[in-house]
Amino acid sequence: MAKTITVKDNASGKTWTFPVMSGTVGPDVVDIRKFYAETDMFTYDPGFTSTGSCESKITFIDGDKGVLLHRGYPIEELAENCNFEEVAYLLLNGELPNAVEKKKFQRDITYHTMLHEQLHSFFSGFRRDAHPMAVMCGVAGALSAFYHDSLDITNPEHRRISSYRLIAKMPTIAAWAYKYSLGQPFIYPRNDLGYAENFLYMMFATPCEDYEVNPILAKAMDRILILHADHEQNASTSTVRLAGSSGANPFACIAAGIASLWGPAHGGANEAVLNMLKQIGNKKNIPEFVKRAKDKNDNFRLMGFGHRVYKNYDPRARIMSRTCSEVLKELGIKNNPLLDIAIELEKIALEDEYFIEKKLYPNVDFYSGIIFEAMGIPVTMFTALFALARTTGWIAQWNEMNEDPQQKIGRPRQLYTGSPKRKFKPIKSRK
Ligand code: SDX
Repeated sequence: MAKTITVKDNASGKTWTFPVMSGTVGPDVVDIRKFYAETDMFTYDPGFTSTGSCESKITFIDGDKGVLLHRGYPIEELAENCNFEEVAYLLLNGELPNAVEKKKFQRDITYHTMLHEQLHSFFSGFRRDAHPMAVMCGVAGALSAFYHDSLDITNPEHRRISSYRLIAKMPTIAAWAYKYSLGQPFIYPRNDLGYAENFLYMMFATPCEDYEVNPILAKAMDRILILHADHEQNASTSTVRLAGSSGANPFACIAAGIASLWGPAHGGANEAVLNMLKQIGNKKNIPEFVKRAKDKNDNFRLMGFGHRVYKNYDPRARIMSRTCSEVLKELGIKNNPLLDIAIELEKIALEDEYFIEKKLYPNVDFYSGIIFEAMGIPVTMFTALFALARTTGWIAQWNEMNEDPQQKIGRPRQLYTGSPKRKFKPIKSRK
């Protein structure tokens, strides 16, 4: 028997029945697509805390259990056994690649890593101290001006080539934003390097001498990119889907996603965590900051803590914490004051009634900044790294939306609490 839910208007006694849909795993959903037509009322859910915006097969999160699956595979197993290109293939195509598919995909992506030479001038239009996210936003959006051969979003081949171009070029754009900020020459990608290794090469090589990427750091970066690749219908992914629902081209949609990710409540949190740890400065100051985080009248929050969905430890944070120790060990960093503060802060917070009651745990952003800083990556580049990794998730979700026969332009409604209709007042009668 089909599952349904009945809603009753207690004032009028009227009732309406709506279908309930079940997924593979996770909560059922109430299909309210006809709710307004039948009830003449809107539902109300600012921040979409109880709203499913789409059907998807890409990522599943169980926030209570701290579970994250990509196409059914646990993030822990993907992070342990795959490289980023395999996970990118999985997110885009639904299955892990076999050896032949993996080799072809890696080559396809590699041969799109260069940027059009005329894009160089886009960088020089920015101030040297421009935030890298501003540069990425601008240059990613500008790509739509260079690829008129792949802007028909109804054409699967155009969607594929645009997806590959975006995945391939984001590390180049990010690395060149960093080089531009230093006043150093851009380093071209190399076709003999893997995705993560190529990014670190473009970040730190110079034309003056050979540069070899530390394989341990390349592996750590590859794992970090996997951890950031996709995460269900988060704010920036929802932004990409909403922008794409109007038929906007993928480059413009990714630029919108970058803009949304930049916020400190979202991808900008990794930069904010490091700034917070530096602000705390010493373990003895932690209680004062924890007190501020709990004070309703203080807008200070423990950055890197809490999550809309995870009410348990973010599984990515666990892997990130382990990666942090590996990177510091490889770099011979015996004691890192920021890591010491982070570990002590996590310990204190997880034992504090306020954080326990509100189910606030470290999220993916809590440790990433310590790793990036240890690798020599400046704080302003942290969210840019998040954006280059999440481009794969964004574009996989964008493709899924474009292939969804149910998809239509996103157009939410509202609860209007403004002025009712009133008579116009000519300026001479306005006080
Ligand atoms: C990411 O959605 C995703 O999947 C995002 C992401 C991804 O991969 O795409 O996982 C990446 O964005 C991770 C989150 C990074 N942001 C931060 O670390 C910033 C700090 N965290 C918060 O701002 C907050 O926890 C959010 C934004 C992450 C979640 O906010 P919600 O779900 O809207 O929860 P809320 O703000 O309503 O908080 C619930 C309660 C509130 O107290 P009450 O009003 O109920 O009394 O918990 C409190 C909040 O004040 N709270 C915190 C807190 N986070 C929430 N108090 C202190 N410190 C915090 N960090």
